[in-house]
Amino acid sequence: MGEWESLEMLCQDCTRCGLCRTRKNVVFGVGVKDADIMFIGEGPGEQEDLQGEPFVGAAGKFLDDMLSIIGINRRNCYIANVVKCRPPGNRDPQDEEQDACIGYLRRQVELVKPQIIVCLGRIAARRIIDPEYRITREHGTWICRNGTWMTAIYHPSALLRDVSKRPETFMDLLSVEEKLHEVHANMQERTP
Ligand code: URA
Repeated sequence: MGEWESLEMLCQDCTRCGLCRTRKNVVFGVGVKDADIMFIGEGPGEQEDLQGEPFVGAAGKFLDDMLSIIGINRRNCYIANVVKCRPPGNRDPQDEEQDACIGYLRRQVELVKPQIIVCLGRIAARRIIDPEYRITREHGTWICRNGTWMTAIYHPSALLRDVSKRPETFMDLLSVEEKLHEVHANMQERTP
């Protein structure tokens, strides 16, 4: 069995935290397994829990629209969450739940080896980029860690609630597009 299959099987049977008792489905991840860009949300909502796929509810539809602006879709990126099971009532995933689950995401990142990671919202940014991350102040800024470019943008649910954040996010998306072009150009330079 391949690494992806065994990781997903492990995750599907996971009982490492209490979220396993209320989940309908484990939401492992979706997309291209060697994508150049990976998007990371916080955790499944109701629709994701029902369908077993990340970002398929209202926020997901909005995410698809956002990504389509810069030519990205589920066939050319990888999408996953910090926690793979729905926190009841869509509350924030607790630290212990994140701690129990983060190994799966780490392994997914190791297997995808993305050039770029985009965190969707504060929870993912704090877990992936910096525990003190201030999404309002720092969204759209870039850091490079171990050769991987990382940034965070507002969570699509926040953008559904607060339209005033959308123009800044549009600029952040353009910056993601530019970074993607940059890494593609660098990859081509290195190809003999
Ligand atoms: N919000 C998230 O953070 N992830 C999903 O998969 C759906 C909504």
